[in-house]
Amino acid sequence: MADDRRPVGPGEITRAARASFAGAPDERQRFLLQRLVECLHGYASDVGLTRAEWEAAVAFLTETGQTCSERRQEFILLSDTLGLSMLVDALDHPSPTGATESTVLGPFHVAGAPLRPMGSSTVEQDGSGEPAWVTGTVRGTDGRPVAGALLDVWQNAANRLYAVQDAAQPPGNLRGRFRTGTDGTFAFWSVRPVDYPIPDDGPVGRLLAATGRHPWRPAHLHVMVSAPGYRPVATHFFDRASPYLDSDAVFGVKPSLVADFVPHAPAEPGAPPGWEGTWYSLEKDVVLAPLGDEVG
Ligand code: BEZ
Ligand code: FE
Repeated sequence: MADDRRPVGPGEITRAARASFAGAPDERQRFLLQRLVECLHGYASDVGLTRAEWEAAVAFLTETGQTCSERRQEFILLSDTLGLSMLVDALDHPSPTGATESTVLGPFHVAGAPLRPMGSSTVEQDGSGEPAWVTGTVRGTDGRPVAGALLDVWQNAANRLYAVQDAAQPPGNLRGRFRTGTDGTFAFWSVRPVDYPIPDDGPVGRLLAATGRHPWRPAHLHVMVSAPGYRPVATHFFDRASPYLDSDAVFGVKPSLVADFVPHAPAEPGAPPGWEGTWYSLEKDVVLAPLGDEVG
């Protein structure tokens, strides 16, 4: 019996796969999938992908999925370390002039942090680190203070771990939500964050090691700020003293987000009661863009 299957070349395969989505009723979905086919096929052709390499990639992605759990998101980590998270953030949130720039959310944000009074502390466990007094004002791009803005903050402890990673920390440790008063200011006690490696005991960590990359992030405080009538922003306050500012494993550093933890002697006014070592202060304002001021 004659075989009527014609040899199919790369171009025809790409055209057929692209055309298979032509009937997708959602226009945006159709566009996204057809361009995905074109770009994936273009990549495979470009690099001359071998079957063995493709199988290795499928095994890697399978393990990435299997590493995910309620407490671990290896796919986000993969996106972060490929720079894709920061690219999507830049494309989706171009900062209007003057507004605080956003950066990666990361996998350690947990909704529902304790609501705390302004001026109180996020520290729920002794030994969490060196005290840091964090202050600033939330303003609009017009310079006016934003009353009632909600700050959601989270960071790691001296052992490098976030509470969500560490069963030995109370779940609310170094996490908190604060609401600004009428003058838009915020102030709370925390600890000076420390540099830390992103979780590197899974497939993403192996990828970094195999390619000569380190897993470190420069010390930072996560701050997410929202207020009625303004675009929310998820950002970091980075410690200028970190040696990893120029090689963040997830490409999250922007110069405007770097700040100084100013050291203070124990005897200086404002020192935390009972603390006998150096403590720090950090002052950083947050500027929000009004809704309707979207760029792009
Ligand atoms: C973080 O800053 O918490 C983070 C961001 C990306 C990957 C891992 C951690
Ligand atoms: Fe972080």
